[in-house]
Amino acid sequence: MSWFRSHTARANDILTYNDRGTYSVPTHGLYPVQFNWDSCFAALGYRHRNPERALSEIILLLSAQWSDGMVPHIVFRGDYDGYFPGPDVWSTGQKIPTSGITQPPVAASVLWRLWDDSAKVDRARMRQAAKRLERWHRWFANSRQDDQGAIFIVHPWESGRDNLTDWDVGMNRVQPDTGLGEYIRRDLEHVNAVQRPTKEEYDRYLTIVHHGRKIGWDQKEMGRSSPFRMVCAGMTAILLAAERDLLLIMSELEMPTANTKRRISRLEDGWRSLWNPKVKSYVNRDLETSWTSNAVTASAFLGAYAGMTDNLGSMMDHFDRISGKVRFMLPSFDPDCEGFDPERYWRGPVWFIINNMVGKGFEKIGESSRAARIKIDTAKLAESSGFYEYFNPITGRGLGGKSFTWTASVYLDWAGRN
Ligand code: DGY
Repeated sequence: MSWFRSHTARANDILTYNDRGTYSVPTHGLYPVQFNWDSCFAALGYRHRNPERALSEIILLLSAQWSDGMVPHIVFRGDYDGYFPGPDVWSTGQKIPTSGITQPPVAASVLWRLWDDSAKVDRARMRQAAKRLERWHRWFANSRQDDQGAIFIVHPWESGRDNLTDWDVGMNRVQPDTGLGEYIRRDLEHVNAVQRPTKEEYDRYLTIVHHGRKIGWDQKEMGRSSPFRMVCAGMTAILLAAERDLLLIMSELEMPTANTKRRISRLEDGWRSLWNPKVKSYVNRDLETSWTSNAVTASAFLGAYAGMTDNLGSMMDHFDRISGKVRFMLPSFDPDCEGFDPERYWRGPVWFIINNMVGKGFEKIGESSRAARIKIDTAKLAESSGFYEYFNPITGRGLGGKSFTWTASVYLDWAGRN
């Protein structure tokens, strides 16, 4: 790929490079399979050059939906040999091999973008997608919602923010399975170990997978008995936004919306339940104990994206405090809290997808200068460091996988546009 091509052309080259014909991989080597939210963000990039391709990326993902309604976090298509843990480890018994957990449900929000600005997408296919999304969202209400209406996760990978410092509390409770044996981490063949989760974390990730296998991947049971169960602000806000966007799609298609409206109201309660008056922020918490985080993660700023504007003043104070600490917004973890690490995966680095959602939310509520700060920082990172998976918020160094699909997509769809 020539360095002299424009940033937009290079971002488009990356989408083409990671395109497997009917779906996209997040990046070569490190993630050679279809990932749930990666595919949805790929669709955001595709929508400018080929809205039909964008729609089919999402429809193909949804075709791997389980009979209980869950849309899995990984669909093992193509040559998945280079990825660990593969389908034999998950052992979910699905016709299309998949993992046994889900991921942040951004599909409905991306779908609404496709509808909203082109309206050229086929109504029958849109209806097909909307029905599956409704079942997936209902699945969250049945298998992953706590008694206050917030969404919890049964594996750190479900949050998409695999090794977020907050998850240490739940992870420390997971007793690594003594029968794990030796395993080879394929991720370390591609990325420096200091930028990835540790061996101790992987032992625990796999232990939770073993638990899922033992209970035959019964998802309601997983919600009750997983050795890791933590309430996640990111999942709650993202699902709330997705439900609102699904409501818009279903209204356009004249589909019944009463259940969706009920779920929205429950999720609004859930989001409010995450408010921590001590730190004046929305935070993650443990489901097993009374532990509540004191850290402001990037997801705390997703309220506006989810249509929730309570406590805006306090959240903007946090935004300004954090923006004084880093050159590039938004660090995934609070730089003033213990456990912040600017280079290790979700313990500090900047991620374009979170920036995109937070930035869009701020734009929607008229927080223009803070939205501009996020957008400009995002564009600068891609233009000066390249289309990496994530970035050091202090130095701007690109980290993790290279030529990354969602980084390119967010650039094409938002950060690189005036
Ligand atoms: C990985 O393999 O690191 C993925 O993020 C798991 O979801």
